Formats: sequence, structure tokens, C-alpha cells
Amino acid sequence: MNQNKKLEDEIKFKELLKDPIRLFGWIFPYFFIILLLLGIYYVGNLSTLSFNEQLVGAPDSINIKKEIPVKKGGAMPAVDLDLVKNPTPDFIAKGKELFNTNCKSCHGDNGMGDGPAAAMLNPKPRNFHAVDGWTNGRNVDQMYKTLQEGIPKNGMAAYEYMPKLDRFEIISYIRTFAQFPPVGDDQLINLDMNYQVSQSATVPSTIPVTLAQAKLEEENSVQNLQFLRFQKIVNTAQGSRGVDVLKNYSINLKKVFTSFSRLGVNQNFDNYVSVVTANPMNTGFKPAVVQLSKEDWKILYDYLKSSTM
Ligand code: HEC
Repeated sequence: MNQNKKLEDEIKFKELLKDPIRLFGWIFPYFFIILLLLGIYYVGNLSTLSFNEQLVGAPDSINIKKEIPVKKGGAMPAVDLDLVKNPTPDFIAKGKELFNTNCKSCHGDNGMGDGPAAAMLNPKPRNFHAVDGWTNGRNVDQMYKTLQEGIPKNGMAAYEYMPKLDRFEIISYIRTFAQFPPVGDDQLINLDMNYQVSQSATVPSTIPVTLAQAKLEEENSVQNLQFLRFQKIVNTAQGSRGVDVLKNYSINLKKVFTSFSRLGVNQNFDNYVSVVTANPMNTGFKPAVVQLSKEDWKILYDYLKSSTM
């Protein structure tokens, strides 16, 4: 009994259970160590997460600009259908070059349908030496149709973005691989009716972005100079009815100047008045400008015209 009592005294289980808050005192150091280790582990790994691993020398892709060349727009020449009928060696040579860059990978060096990319294709690319088994056919107009529309279900892509002339050059080259049916007038008529191949298309001019920017800035700086001149004229003018009307009714000279240069100078008086009265604020005037008499409008208009020139 005495022994039991002593044990109880040392461990005090009963009291611990009666007063669980004391239990915490016992396990707290273990929690503390575990939390500390987790914390150390977390912080230790944090540094690798936040390392900036981008190469110092890698260019920022936002700053990479590709300039388009200056190109005069105009008419994309119509295809001379005579050349399709009787291709010159030059015409065919260009076709060979285009074939080698665009078609050889599938159709093969000699058009046997055995290019390196053909291995994975089923059905196989057309063997241009074969007479039978064509999906669209081997006449010129049928091959053109293949290039325009592709044969998507069989893995032959459309080349509708390729210039018409290029396509005919390639077709002329393909026709040298084997004996093909002659180019009949009916085929040419067909081509022209379905694909307007003998009509020219217009292509817009292109200029590089930097050049366009420079031109815009140049234009802006010219406009700026003109505005400064106008501002000076207005600010130094005295005693003219025109400048009085302008000063009384405008709130933003810059807007007056730009809207007048856009609307007023070369267009007629009535048009300018109607635009300004419909939209005084945007054209630089106080709303009260709508109350101007016809006579005052005329004076204002003439004044603007003479001082913006
Ligand atoms: C990705 C591979 C691939 C490329 C590249 C490719 N072709 Fe084809 N081509 C095919 C396949 C596959 C067929 C077979 C389609 C079929 O059987 O209907 C085919 C068929 C054709 C045919 C015959 C269509 C018919 O009526 O059977 C012509 C003509 C042709 N290609 C021309 C060209 C030309 C010209 C180019 C290059 C500008 C080109 N192909 C590029 C895969 C290709």
C-alpha cells in the first residue's frame, strides 16, 4: 500500500487525467521540436524556390522586333495562262525550287511519293508517275483544285495562301515527272471560272513599324509647330472681333486647333458649324458656343482660317 502510494506520487497519472492542461506541459517540448524542424526544413527549401533561374543573357522576348520590309503594294500579277500551256524552262525551274522546299518531304525527290515524311502517312502521298488512283485527278485544273482546297481527309494540305503563279510553276514541274494529259483550253476555262486565275489581285503596301513611327512623329511635330504658331497669334492678337469671339467661347485652344485643321480648313463653313455645335467640348469650345449668331460664326470661322494657315 505504501509502495503504491509512492508510485502514484511520482507519476501522478490520476492527477494528470483530472487536469489535462498539465498533459500539455509534458508533450509541449516534443511539439516544439517537430515544429522547429519543419520550419527549418521549409525555410531551407524556400530559398531554392525563390531563386531567379532566368539566364542573365537571355533576351526579353518583348524587345525582340522583327521588321517587315518596305514593300510597294500593287497588283499581284495575273497568271499568264499561255505559260501554263507552254511553260518555259525558267518557269519549270522555279517550280522545281518551290517543289523542293514545299512538297519534297512527302512526295519525294522525283515525285514517287517516297519522301522522308511519307513513311508515317496512310494513304501515301501521290506517286506522280502513276497514271491511276488519283483522288482529284491529274489534269492541270484538277491539280490546282488539290492545291487550293487540299485533300484534308487524306493528309494533303491546302496551299491556298501560296501565290497562284507559284502553284502553276510547281504543277508545271510535276508534269515533267511523267507523261501527263495535255493542257486543254477547256481546263484553262475551268480554272478561270472557278479560281479567277487570270485576274490580278491587289496587295497593300507595307512599311516597317519604325519607319511608320518616324513618319507619325514627323507629322506630329509639324502639327505641333503649327499649333504653337496659332497659339502665339491668338495670345498676342488684340482688338479683333474674331479673336474676341474665340477667346470668349473656347476652353481648349489645342482642341480648337486640331478639330479645325481636321474639319474646317478644306471643308465648308456650314459643316464646321454643325460639327462644333453638336460637340462643343470635343472641339474645344464652351457649350455656350451654340448661342453664337450666324454673323459671329462667320467671323470666328474666318479668323480661325486666317490664323491657322
Ligand atoms: C504532309 C505531306 C504532304 C506534303 C508536304 C504535300 N503533299 Fe501532296 N499529297 C499528300 C498525300 C498524303 C496525298 C494523297 C492524297 C490522296 O490520296 O487523296 C497527296 C496528294 C497530292 C496530289 C494528288 C491529288 C490527287 O488528286 O490524288 C497532288 C497533285 C499533290 N499532293 C501535290 C502536292 C504539292 C504540289 C505539294 C507541295 C506544294 C504537296 N503535295 C505537298 C501529302 C503531302
